Amino acid sequence: MKLLFVASEVYPLVKTGGLGDVAYSLPVALHGADVDVRLLLPGYRELLRKLSSVRILGWLELQGAGQMHTVRILQSHHPDYPFPLWIVDCPALFDRPGNPYLQPNGYDWADNAERFTVFARAATELARDALDIGWKPEVVHAHDWQTGLVPAFLDGLQQCPQRIFTIHNMAYGGHFSQVDFVSLKLPSYWWSAEGAEFYGGFSMLKAGIVYSDAVTTVSPTYAREICTPAFGYGMDGLLQSRRYKLHGILNGIDTEVWNPATDSHLPAHYSAEQIQPGKSRNKAALLQRFGVENPEPHLPFPLLGMVSRLVEQKGVDLIINAIPDLLATTDARFVLIGAGHSHFEQRLRELATQYPERVFVFIGYDEQLAHLLEAGADMFLMPSRFEPCGLNQMYSLRYGTPPIVLHTGGLADTVVDASQANLERGIADGFVFHEPITSVLKGTILRALDCFYQPRLWQQIQTTGMNHAFGWDNSAADYLALYNKGATP
Ligand code: ADP
Ligand code: GLC
Repeated sequence: MKLLFVASEVYPLVKTGGLGDVAYSLPVALHGADVDVRLLLPGYRELLRKLSSVRILGWLELQGAGQMHTVRILQSHHPDYPFPLWIVDCPALFDRPGNPYLQPNGYDWADNAERFTVFARAATELARDALDIGWKPEVVHAHDWQTGLVPAFLDGLQQCPQRIFTIHNMAYGGHFSQVDFVSLKLPSYWWSAEGAEFYGGFSMLKAGIVYSDAVTTVSPTYAREICTPAFGYGMDGLLQSRRYKLHGILNGIDTEVWNPATDSHLPAHYSAEQIQPGKSRNKAALLQRFGVENPEPHLPFPLLGMVSRLVEQKGVDLIINAIPDLLATTDARFVLIGAGHSHFEQRLRELATQYPERVFVFIGYDEQLAHLLEAGADMFLMPSRFEPCGLNQMYSLRYGTPPIVLHTGGLADTVVDASQANLERGIADGFVFHEPITSVLKGTILRALDCFYQPRLWQQIQTTGMNHAFGWDNSAADYLALYNKGATP
Protein backbone atom coordinates (compact mmCIF):
# COMPACT_ATOMS: atom_id res chain seq x y z
CA MET A 1 0.00 0.00 0.00
CA LYS A 2 1.25 3.48 -0.93
CA LEU A 3 0.74 6.16 1.73
CA LEU A 4 1.35 9.89 1.46
CA PHE A 5 1.74 11.14 5.04
CA VAL A 6 1.37 14.93 5.21
CA ALA A 7 2.52 16.82 8.29
CA SER A 8 3.76 20.27 9.24
CA GLU A 9 6.50 19.05 11.61
CA VAL A 10 8.47 15.91 12.34
CA TYR A 11 10.94 14.79 14.99
CA PRO A 12 13.92 15.22 14.96
CA LEU A 13 14.13 17.72 12.08
CA VAL A 14 11.53 20.21 13.25
CA LYS A 15 9.35 19.72 16.30
CA THR A 16 7.20 21.94 18.50
CA GLY A 17 5.31 19.22 20.39
CA GLY A 18 3.75 15.78 20.27
CA LEU A 19 2.62 16.15 16.66
CA GLY A 20 6.29 16.04 15.65
CA ASP A 21 6.82 12.85 17.65
CA VAL A 22 3.80 11.13 16.11
CA ALA A 23 4.66 12.28 12.57
CA TYR A 24 7.92 10.41 13.05
CA SER A 25 6.97 7.32 15.00
CA LEU A 26 3.67 6.41 13.30
CA PRO A 27 5.03 6.32 9.72
CA VAL A 28 8.08 4.45 10.98
CA ALA A 29 5.73 1.84 12.50
CA LEU A 30 3.68 1.70 9.30
CA HIS A 31 6.82 1.30 7.23
CA GLY A 32 7.63 -1.66 9.48
CA ALA A 33 4.24 -3.09 8.52
CA ASP A 34 5.18 -2.96 4.81
CA VAL A 35 3.45 0.31 3.96
CA ASP A 36 5.25 2.27 1.23
CA VAL A 37 5.48 5.73 2.86
CA ARG A 38 6.36 9.20 1.59
CA LEU A 39 6.41 11.87 4.27
CA LEU A 40 5.63 15.34 2.91
CA LEU A 41 6.84 18.40 4.84
CA PRO A 42 7.19 22.15 4.28
CA GLY A 43 10.74 23.26 3.46
CA TYR A 44 11.45 25.39 6.53
CA ARG A 45 14.91 26.92 6.72
CA GLU A 46 16.03 24.79 9.68
CA LEU A 47 14.78 21.64 8.03
CA LEU A 48 16.52 22.24 4.69
CA ARG A 49 19.76 23.00 6.50
CA LYS A 50 19.68 19.58 8.12
CA LEU A 51 19.23 17.65 4.87
CA SER A 52 22.24 16.59 2.87
CA SER A 53 21.34 14.32 -0.04
CA VAL A 54 18.54 16.12 -1.80
CA ARG A 55 17.29 15.69 -5.32
CA ILE A 56 14.71 17.69 -7.23
CA LEU A 57 11.62 15.71 -8.18
CA GLY A 58 10.07 18.58 -10.14
CA TRP A 59 8.41 21.97 -10.12
CA LEU A 60 4.80 22.96 -9.51
CA GLU A 61 3.01 26.25 -10.17
CA LEU A 62 0.62 26.75 -7.29
CA GLN A 63 -1.96 29.39 -6.48
CA GLY A 64 -1.16 31.51 -3.43
CA ALA A 65 -2.83 34.67 -2.13
CA GLY A 66 -3.33 36.75 -5.25
CA GLN A 67 -0.13 35.37 -6.79
CA MET A 68 1.28 32.13 -8.13
CA HIS A 69 4.22 30.37 -6.47
CA THR A 70 6.80 28.27 -8.22
CA VAL A 71 7.46 25.41 -5.85
CA ARG A 72 10.23 22.84 -5.98
CA ILE A 73 9.49 19.35 -4.74
CA LEU A 74 12.59 17.81 -3.21
CA GLN A 75 13.29 14.26 -2.15
CA SER A 76 15.71 13.37 0.59
CA HIS A 77 16.90 10.11 2.10
CA HIS A 78 17.76 11.04 5.65
CA PRO A 79 19.37 8.48 7.94
CA ASP A 80 16.71 9.02 10.64
CA TYR A 81 13.88 7.91 8.35
CA PRO A 82 13.51 4.52 6.66
CA PHE A 83 11.46 6.09 3.81
CA PRO A 84 11.92 9.10 1.51
CA LEU A 85 11.06 12.59 2.71
CA TRP A 86 9.35 14.86 0.23
CA ILE A 87 9.79 18.57 0.79
CA VAL A 88 7.74 21.49 -0.49
CA ASP A 89 10.43 24.07 -1.15
CA CYS A 90 8.97 27.54 -1.52
CA PRO A 91 11.40 30.09 -0.03
CA ALA A 92 8.88 32.94 -0.15
CA LEU A 93 6.71 31.02 2.33
CA PHE A 94 9.01 28.77 4.33
CA ASP A 95 12.56 30.12 4.30
CA ARG A 96 12.20 31.69 7.74
CA PRO A 97 13.95 31.17 11.06
CA GLY A 98 12.70 29.38 14.14
CA ASN A 99 9.25 28.02 14.97
CA PRO A 100 7.30 26.77 11.94
CA TYR A 101 4.13 28.66 12.77
CA LEU A 102 5.20 31.71 14.77
CA GLN A 103 7.26 34.80 14.13
CA PRO A 104 10.17 35.47 16.47
CA ASN A 105 7.87 37.80 18.48
CA GLY A 106 5.56 34.86 19.25
CA TYR A 107 2.69 35.86 16.96
CA ASP A 108 1.44 33.71 14.08
CA TRP A 109 2.99 34.45 10.70
CA ALA A 110 0.51 36.80 9.04
CA ASP A 111 0.48 34.67 5.89
CA ASN A 112 -0.11 31.29 7.56
CA ALA A 113 -3.30 30.86 5.50
CA GLU A 114 -1.28 31.16 2.31
CA ARG A 115 1.65 29.06 3.59
CA PHE A 116 -0.48 26.06 4.45
CA THR A 117 -2.83 26.42 1.49
CA VAL A 118 0.12 26.21 -0.89
CA PHE A 119 1.46 23.26 1.11
CA ALA A 120 -1.92 21.51 0.80
CA ARG A 121 -2.10 22.25 -2.92
CA ALA A 122 1.34 20.66 -3.33
CA ALA A 123 0.17 17.56 -1.44
CA THR A 124 -2.83 17.30 -3.75
CA GLU A 125 -0.70 17.57 -6.89
CA LEU A 126 1.62 14.86 -5.59
CA ALA A 127 -1.33 12.66 -4.69
CA ARG A 128 -2.43 12.72 -8.33
CA ASP A 129 1.15 12.20 -9.47
CA ALA A 130 1.23 15.51 -11.31
CA LEU A 131 5.03 15.23 -11.55
CA ASP A 132 4.71 11.89 -13.30
CA ILE A 133 6.97 10.13 -10.85
CA GLY A 134 5.06 6.87 -11.18
CA TRP A 135 4.04 6.83 -7.53
CA LYS A 136 0.38 7.42 -6.68
CA PRO A 137 -0.83 6.94 -3.11
CA GLU A 138 -3.87 4.84 -2.28
CA VAL A 139 -4.11 6.69 1.03
CA VAL A 140 -3.38 10.29 2.03
CA HIS A 141 -3.11 10.87 5.78
CA ALA A 142 -3.12 14.52 6.91
CA HIS A 143 -2.64 15.99 10.38
CA ASP A 144 -4.13 18.99 12.16
CA TRP A 145 -5.30 22.30 10.72
CA GLN A 146 -2.07 22.94 8.79
CA THR A 147 -3.05 20.12 6.44
CA GLY A 148 -6.84 20.40 6.75
CA LEU A 149 -7.22 21.60 3.17
CA VAL A 150 -5.58 18.45 1.80
CA PRO A 151 -8.73 16.26 2.04
CA ALA A 152 -10.76 19.20 0.73
CA PHE A 153 -8.62 19.72 -2.38
CA LEU A 154 -8.55 15.96 -2.96
CA ASP A 155 -12.35 16.03 -2.99
CA GLY A 156 -12.16 17.43 -6.49
CA LEU A 157 -10.08 14.57 -7.90
CA GLN A 158 -11.61 11.99 -10.18
CA GLN A 159 -9.61 9.15 -8.66
CA CYS A 160 -9.60 10.19 -5.06
CA PRO A 161 -7.34 8.33 -2.63
CA GLN A 162 -8.65 7.32 0.78
CA ARG A 163 -8.43 10.49 2.91
CA ILE A 164 -7.63 10.18 6.60
CA PHE A 165 -7.52 13.29 8.74
CA THR A 166 -6.15 13.19 12.29
CA ILE A 167 -7.01 15.82 14.87
CA HIS A 168 -4.19 16.24 17.37
CA ASN A 169 -5.71 19.26 19.08
CA MET A 170 -9.11 20.92 18.59
CA ALA A 171 -7.79 24.09 20.23
CA TYR A 172 -5.99 25.05 17.03
CA GLY A 173 -8.64 25.48 14.35
CA GLY A 174 -6.70 27.20 11.58
CA HIS A 175 -9.25 30.03 11.41
CA PHE A 176 -8.89 32.58 8.63
CA SER A 177 -10.97 35.31 7.05
CA GLN A 178 -13.23 35.52 4.03
CA VAL A 179 -10.68 37.89 2.50
CA ASP A 180 -8.10 35.10 2.72
CA PHE A 181 -10.60 32.63 1.27
CA VAL A 182 -11.17 34.84 -1.75
CA SER A 183 -7.56 35.82 -2.35
CA LEU A 184 -6.46 32.18 -2.11
CA LYS A 185 -9.05 31.37 -4.78
CA LEU A 186 -10.48 28.50 -2.76
CA PRO A 187 -13.43 26.70 -4.41
CA SER A 188 -16.63 28.61 -3.74
CA TYR A 189 -18.57 25.44 -2.92
CA TRP A 190 -16.50 25.12 0.27
CA TRP A 191 -18.10 28.33 1.49
CA SER A 192 -21.06 26.84 3.32
CA ALA A 193 -22.01 25.63 6.77
CA GLU A 194 -21.62 22.10 5.38
CA GLY A 195 -18.18 23.01 4.02
CA ALA A 196 -15.24 24.93 5.46
CA GLU A 197 -17.11 28.11 6.40
CA PHE A 198 -17.05 28.78 10.13
CA TYR A 199 -18.75 31.78 11.76
CA GLY A 200 -18.12 34.17 8.90
CA GLY A 201 -14.57 32.97 8.19
CA PHE A 202 -13.25 29.55 7.35
CA SER A 203 -11.47 26.86 9.31
CA MET A 204 -8.85 24.54 7.87
CA LEU A 205 -9.52 22.08 10.71
CA LYS A 206 -13.19 22.02 9.76
CA ALA A 207 -12.31 21.44 6.11
CA GLY A 208 -10.26 18.42 7.17
CA ILE A 209 -13.15 17.03 9.21
CA VAL A 210 -15.78 17.60 6.53
CA TYR A 211 -13.92 16.38 3.46
CA SER A 212 -12.08 13.33 4.78
CA ASP A 213 -13.29 9.75 4.57
CA ALA A 214 -12.28 9.07 8.15
CA VAL A 215 -11.43 11.42 10.99
CA THR A 216 -9.29 10.16 13.79
CA THR A 217 -8.18 11.71 17.00
CA VAL A 218 -5.47 10.57 19.30
CA SER A 219 -7.31 8.85 22.16
CA PRO A 220 -10.73 7.22 22.63
CA THR A 221 -11.68 9.54 25.49
CA TYR A 222 -10.81 12.68 23.52
CA ALA A 223 -12.89 11.33 20.60
CA ARG A 224 -15.89 11.32 22.91
CA GLU A 225 -15.02 14.64 24.57
CA ILE A 226 -14.80 16.63 21.33
CA CYS A 227 -18.40 15.74 20.56
CA THR A 228 -19.42 17.86 23.57
CA PRO A 229 -19.56 21.67 23.85
CA ALA A 230 -16.88 21.77 26.58
CA PHE A 231 -14.19 20.34 24.26
CA GLY A 232 -15.56 20.87 20.75
CA TYR A 233 -14.55 24.51 20.11
CA GLY A 234 -17.84 25.05 18.32
CA MET A 235 -17.42 21.93 16.18
CA ASP A 236 -19.03 19.46 18.59
CA GLY A 237 -22.27 19.40 16.57
CA LEU A 238 -20.35 18.81 13.37
CA LEU A 239 -18.36 16.01 14.98
CA GLN A 240 -21.47 14.43 16.44
CA SER A 241 -23.00 14.33 13.00
CA ARG A 242 -19.78 12.71 11.71
CA ARG A 243 -19.54 10.17 14.53
CA TYR A 244 -19.87 7.39 11.99
CA LYS A 245 -16.42 8.27 10.65
CA LEU A 246 -14.77 9.48 13.87
CA HIS A 247 -12.28 7.13 15.56
CA GLY A 248 -10.21 7.52 18.72
CA ILE A 249 -6.86 5.78 18.24
CA LEU A 250 -4.41 6.13 21.10
CA ASN A 251 -0.94 7.33 20.13
CA GLY A 252 1.96 5.02 20.75
CA ILE A 253 5.43 6.13 21.71
CA ASP A 254 8.70 5.35 20.03
CA THR A 255 10.09 2.75 22.37
CA GLU A 256 13.58 3.04 20.91
CA VAL A 257 13.90 6.81 21.24
CA TRP A 258 12.31 6.63 24.70
CA ASN A 259 13.99 3.70 26.39
CA PRO A 260 15.74 4.24 29.74
CA ALA A 261 17.88 1.16 29.14
CA THR A 262 19.52 2.61 26.02
CA ASP A 263 18.70 6.37 25.88
CA SER A 264 21.84 8.13 24.62
CA HIS A 265 20.82 11.36 26.39
CA LEU A 266 21.20 9.71 29.82
CA PRO A 267 24.37 9.40 31.87
CA ALA A 268 23.09 6.16 33.46
CA HIS A 269 20.77 3.45 32.19
CA TYR A 270 18.16 1.40 34.02
CA SER A 271 15.15 -0.83 33.45
CA ALA A 272 12.09 -2.18 35.25
CA GLU A 273 14.21 -5.11 36.50
CA GLN A 274 16.92 -2.83 37.87
CA ILE A 275 15.77 0.72 38.52
CA GLN A 276 18.53 1.66 40.92
CA PRO A 277 21.15 2.98 41.03
CA GLY A 278 20.61 4.16 37.42
CA LYS A 279 17.62 6.32 38.12
CA SER A 280 19.23 8.09 41.08
CA ARG A 281 22.33 8.81 39.01
CA ASN A 282 20.13 10.58 36.49
CA LYS A 283 18.54 12.51 39.33
CA ALA A 284 21.95 13.67 40.48
CA ALA A 285 22.91 14.61 36.91
CA LEU A 286 19.68 16.55 36.48
CA LEU A 287 20.29 18.50 39.68
CA GLN A 288 23.86 19.16 38.61
CA ARG A 289 22.59 20.61 35.35
CA PHE A 290 20.91 23.23 37.52
CA GLY A 291 24.03 24.01 39.47
CA VAL A 292 23.35 21.93 42.56
CA GLU A 293 26.82 20.97 43.70
CA ASN A 294 27.43 17.55 45.10
CA PRO A 295 23.76 16.53 44.86
CA GLU A 296 24.15 13.17 46.68
CA PRO A 297 22.77 14.41 50.01
CA HIS A 298 19.68 15.76 48.29
CA LEU A 299 18.67 12.46 46.77
CA PRO A 300 16.19 11.43 49.47
CA PHE A 301 14.12 14.47 48.60
CA PRO A 302 11.33 13.94 46.10
CA LEU A 303 11.99 15.72 42.83
CA LEU A 304 8.90 16.67 40.84
CA GLY A 305 9.32 17.46 37.15
CA MET A 306 7.44 19.07 34.29
CA VAL A 307 8.25 19.36 30.57
CA SER A 308 5.63 21.32 28.74
CA ARG A 309 4.58 23.89 26.24
CA LEU A 310 3.65 26.76 28.55
CA VAL A 311 0.06 27.27 27.49
CA GLU A 312 -3.31 27.36 29.25
CA GLN A 313 -4.05 23.78 28.11
CA LYS A 314 -1.30 22.30 30.25
CA GLY A 315 -2.53 23.59 33.62
CA VAL A 316 0.84 25.27 34.25
CA ASP A 317 -0.91 27.84 36.43
CA LEU A 318 -2.14 25.07 38.73
CA ILE A 319 1.44 23.93 39.25
CA ILE A 320 2.71 27.48 39.76
CA ASN A 321 -0.01 28.16 42.35
CA ALA A 322 0.55 24.87 44.19
CA ILE A 323 4.31 25.22 44.58
CA PRO A 324 4.67 27.80 47.42
CA ASP A 325 2.46 25.78 49.79
CA LEU A 326 4.15 22.52 48.88
CA LEU A 327 7.53 24.08 49.57
CA ALA A 328 6.30 25.19 52.98
CA THR A 329 4.78 21.88 53.99
CA THR A 330 6.94 19.23 52.31
CA ASP A 331 10.57 18.71 51.31
CA ALA A 332 9.76 18.44 47.59
CA ARG A 333 11.91 20.07 44.93
CA PHE A 334 10.83 21.01 41.42
CA VAL A 335 12.44 21.01 37.98
CA LEU A 336 10.29 22.76 35.40
CA ILE A 337 11.13 22.95 31.70
CA GLY A 338 9.10 24.74 29.10
CA ALA A 339 8.57 27.56 26.68
CA GLY A 340 5.46 29.39 25.61
CA HIS A 341 3.39 32.28 26.87
CA SER A 342 5.55 34.98 28.35
CA HIS A 343 3.46 35.39 31.52
CA PHE A 344 3.99 31.72 32.41
CA GLU A 345 7.70 31.98 31.59
CA GLN A 346 7.90 35.06 33.81
CA ARG A 347 6.14 33.42 36.77
CA LEU A 348 8.34 30.34 36.55
CA ARG A 349 11.47 32.50 36.52
CA GLU A 350 10.18 34.34 39.58
CA LEU A 351 9.64 31.07 41.45
CA ALA A 352 13.19 29.98 40.62
CA THR A 353 14.56 33.30 41.89
CA GLN A 354 12.47 33.16 45.04
CA TYR A 355 13.38 29.55 45.89
CA PRO A 356 16.84 29.06 44.36
CA GLU A 357 17.55 25.91 46.38
CA ARG A 358 14.33 24.11 45.57
CA VAL A 359 12.83 25.29 42.30
CA PHE A 360 14.87 24.87 39.11
CA VAL A 361 13.59 26.30 35.88
CA PHE A 362 14.73 26.12 32.28
CA ILE A 363 12.89 28.29 29.79
CA GLY A 364 13.43 27.05 26.27
CA TYR A 365 13.29 23.91 24.21
CA ASP A 366 15.85 21.21 24.92
CA GLU A 367 15.25 17.65 23.77
CA GLN A 368 18.17 16.22 25.74
CA LEU A 369 17.13 17.93 28.96
CA ALA A 370 13.58 16.62 28.47
CA HIS A 371 14.98 13.05 28.40
CA LEU A 372 17.14 13.70 31.46
CA LEU A 373 14.17 15.09 33.35
CA GLU A 374 11.98 12.10 32.52
CA ALA A 375 14.71 9.88 33.92
CA GLY A 376 15.87 12.05 36.81
CA ALA A 377 12.61 13.25 38.32
CA ASP A 378 10.73 11.09 40.82
CA MET A 379 7.29 12.17 39.61
CA PHE A 380 5.98 13.97 36.56
CA LEU A 381 3.41 16.77 36.75
CA MET A 382 0.88 16.94 33.92
CA PRO A 383 -2.33 18.56 35.17
CA SER A 384 -3.58 19.42 31.66
CA ARG A 385 -7.09 20.90 31.53
CA PHE A 386 -7.56 18.91 28.35
CA GLU A 387 -5.16 16.56 26.62
CA PRO A 388 -5.97 14.95 23.28
CA CYS A 389 -3.46 12.19 23.99
CA GLY A 390 -0.31 13.41 25.69
CA LEU A 391 3.00 11.68 25.20
CA ASN A 392 4.91 12.92 28.20
CA GLN A 393 2.84 10.89 30.66
CA MET A 394 3.68 7.78 28.63
CA TYR A 395 7.38 8.69 28.55
CA SER A 396 7.18 9.17 32.34
CA LEU A 397 5.56 5.80 32.89
CA ARG A 398 8.28 4.15 30.84
CA TYR A 399 10.99 6.00 32.78
CA GLY A 400 9.68 4.95 36.20
CA THR A 401 8.53 8.50 36.94
CA PRO A 402 4.88 8.14 37.95
CA PRO A 403 2.78 10.90 36.41
CA ILE A 404 0.27 13.07 38.26
CA VAL A 405 -2.52 13.86 35.80
CA LEU A 406 -6.03 15.21 35.46
CA HIS A 407 -8.62 12.66 34.36
CA THR A 408 -9.10 13.92 30.80
CA GLY A 409 -8.48 12.80 27.20
CA GLY A 410 -5.51 10.55 26.67
CA LEU A 411 -4.37 11.04 30.26
CA ALA A 412 -7.51 9.21 31.40
CA ASP A 413 -6.78 6.45 28.90
CA THR A 414 -3.17 5.84 29.91
CA VAL A 415 -2.68 6.45 33.64
CA VAL A 416 -4.18 4.23 36.34
CA ASP A 417 -4.61 5.91 39.70
CA ALA A 418 -2.87 4.52 42.77
CA SER A 419 -6.14 3.98 44.62
CA GLN A 420 -6.21 1.23 47.21
CA ALA A 421 -8.25 -0.98 44.89
CA ASN A 422 -5.94 -0.46 41.92
CA LEU A 423 -2.86 -1.01 44.06
CA GLU A 424 -4.30 -4.29 45.28
CA ARG A 425 -4.98 -5.36 41.69
CA GLY A 426 -1.40 -4.44 40.77
CA ILE A 427 -2.48 -2.03 38.00
CA ALA A 428 -1.75 1.37 39.59
CA ASP A 429 0.97 3.36 37.84
CA GLY A 430 0.31 7.04 38.62
CA PHE A 431 -1.95 9.56 40.31
CA VAL A 432 -5.18 10.83 38.79
CA PHE A 433 -7.37 13.69 39.98
CA HIS A 434 -10.71 14.91 38.74
CA GLU A 435 -11.02 18.67 39.17
CA PRO A 436 -8.61 21.16 37.60
CA ILE A 437 -8.14 23.26 40.72
CA THR A 438 -5.00 23.97 42.70
CA SER A 439 -6.17 22.49 46.01
CA VAL A 440 -7.06 19.17 44.37
CA LEU A 441 -3.73 19.03 42.55
CA LYS A 442 -1.97 19.78 45.84
CA GLY A 443 -3.90 17.05 47.63
CA THR A 444 -2.95 14.59 44.88
CA ILE A 445 0.73 15.54 45.10
CA LEU A 446 0.58 14.95 48.87
CA ARG A 447 -0.97 11.55 48.23
CA ALA A 448 1.84 10.76 45.77
CA LEU A 449 4.48 11.91 48.28
CA ASP A 450 2.96 9.62 50.85
CA CYS A 451 3.49 6.65 48.51
CA PHE A 452 6.98 7.89 47.61
CA TYR A 453 8.06 7.53 51.24
CA GLN A 454 7.07 3.83 51.16
CA PRO A 455 9.89 2.44 48.99
CA ARG A 456 8.37 -0.96 48.25
CA LEU A 457 5.02 0.52 47.30
CA TRP A 458 6.74 3.17 45.19
CA GLN A 459 8.75 0.59 43.34
CA GLN A 460 5.60 -1.37 42.62
CA ILE A 461 3.99 1.73 41.08
CA GLN A 462 7.13 2.46 39.07
CA THR A 463 7.53 -1.04 37.66
CA THR A 464 3.85 -1.32 36.77
CA GLY A 465 4.22 1.78 34.58
CA MET A 466 7.57 0.70 33.15
CA ASN A 467 6.16 -2.67 32.10
CA HIS A 468 3.19 -1.13 30.34
CA ALA A 469 3.50 -1.58 26.57
CA PHE A 470 2.86 1.76 24.89
CA GLY A 471 4.49 0.95 21.55
CA TRP A 472 2.79 1.49 18.21
CA ASP A 473 1.85 -2.09 17.36
CA ASN A 474 -1.85 -1.94 18.23
CA SER A 475 -2.46 1.61 17.08
CA ALA A 476 -0.59 1.19 13.80
CA ALA A 477 -2.79 -1.85 13.13
CA ASP A 478 -5.88 0.29 13.78
CA TYR A 479 -4.67 2.89 11.27
CA LEU A 480 -3.93 0.14 8.75
CA ALA A 481 -7.45 -1.20 9.16
CA LEU A 482 -8.82 2.29 8.39
CA TYR A 483 -6.52 2.72 5.39
CA ASN A 484 -7.62 -0.66 4.05
CA LYS A 485 -11.30 0.20 4.27
CA GLY A 486 -11.05 2.42 1.22
CA ALA A 487 -8.38 0.48 -0.65
CA THR A 488 -9.40 -0.57 -4.12
CA PRO A 489 -9.43 -4.39 -4.42
P1 ADP B 1 1.81 18.58 23.21
O1 ADP B 1 1.98 17.98 21.86
O2 ADP B 1 0.43 19.06 23.48
O3 ADP B 1 2.82 19.63 23.49
P2 ADP B 1 2.63 15.95 24.19
O4 ADP B 1 2.77 15.41 25.56
O5 ADP B 1 1.88 15.14 23.22
O6 ADP B 1 2.05 17.42 24.30
O7 ADP B 1 4.08 16.10 23.53
C1 ADP B 1 5.01 17.03 23.94
C2 ADP B 1 6.33 16.69 23.32
O8 ADP B 1 7.13 17.87 23.25
C3 ADP B 1 7.14 15.72 24.13
O9 ADP B 1 8.00 14.99 23.28
C4 ADP B 1 7.93 16.64 25.04
O10 ADP B 1 9.08 16.04 25.56
C5 ADP B 1 8.25 17.76 24.11
N1 ADP B 1 8.47 19.05 24.74
C6 ADP B 1 7.55 19.96 25.12
N2 ADP B 1 8.15 21.06 25.64
C7 ADP B 1 9.48 20.83 25.58
C8 ADP B 1 10.64 21.58 25.95
N3 ADP B 1 10.53 22.79 26.49
N4 ADP B 1 11.85 21.03 25.73
C9 ADP B 1 11.95 19.81 25.18
N5 ADP B 1 10.91 19.04 24.82
C10 ADP B 1 9.68 19.55 25.00
C1 GLC C 1 -1.21 17.49 20.37
C2 GLC C 1 -1.88 17.25 21.70
C3 GLC C 1 -1.26 16.12 22.49
C4 GLC C 1 -0.96 14.93 21.61
C5 GLC C 1 -0.11 15.37 20.43
C6 GLC C 1 0.23 14.21 19.50
O1 GLC C 1 -0.14 18.35 20.46
O2 GLC C 1 -1.92 18.42 22.49
O3 GLC C 1 -2.15 15.73 23.52
O4 GLC C 1 -0.26 13.95 22.35
O5 GLC C 1 -0.81 16.31 19.69
O6 GLC C 1 -0.92 13.58 19.01
